[in-house]
Amino acid sequence: MSAADLPGTSVQNLVILISGNGSNMQAVIEAAARENWLGLLGARVAAVISNKPEAAGLGLAQQAGIATEVVDHRGYGSREAFDAALMQSIDRHAPALVLLAGFMRILTPGFVRHYQGRLINIHPSLLPAFPGLHTHRRAIEAGCAQAGATVHWVTPELDHGPILAQAAVPVLPDDTEQTLAARVLEQEHRIYPQVVRQLLTDLS
Ligand code: GRF
Repeated sequence: MSAADLPGTSVQNLVILISGNGSNMQAVIEAAARENWLGLLGARVAAVISNKPEAAGLGLAQQAGIATEVVDHRGYGSREAFDAALMQSIDRHAPALVLLAGFMRILTPGFVRHYQGRLINIHPSLLPAFPGLHTHRRAIEAGCAQAGATVHWVTPELDHGPILAQAAVPVLPDDTEQTLAARVLEQEHRIYPQVVRQLLTDLS
């Protein structure tokens, strides 16, 4: 019997939003299985939703037996219309937490408000440095000695919410955008599942 089977307890659903490779998504899925989040915390990854039908992460989620869905932003005339459709898909799972994992869309304030306190993101820089895109190139060009990743609550201002965890890595003299990105990504895969697990523990 798992915690999810106990009378009076309900499953805490996670919904993960992706746009691409889904390696952070995969790290969370693997941690959930390895650490038995369902049994210990009554939590599971209920669905993975992508705004891009070609996102490679969709296949990985399916291989793990997780429901996937595409809400293609190109099918909507405005950000508000897309976000409304996305919210409908997400809310079918009544998620305890919604994880942005390489989800490359700017979200409307209405969307962010709707999930306030349940919506987290991973960003490949040591916020508040380098919000937005091309973080690794910008860190190298600025001559930073350190780069890293941040997990944070999502607030209406892009990449600005309260910080939940950070991991730093050195920037090496011969680093390219790619080598630095790979070093940072390794840390992303470590800290994102850790934060999710901690939040689920606090909720359970
Ligand atoms: C990661 O660096 C993430 O922090 C950023 O985009 C990249 C996506 O990687 N937002 P993946 O899709 O999780 O592999």
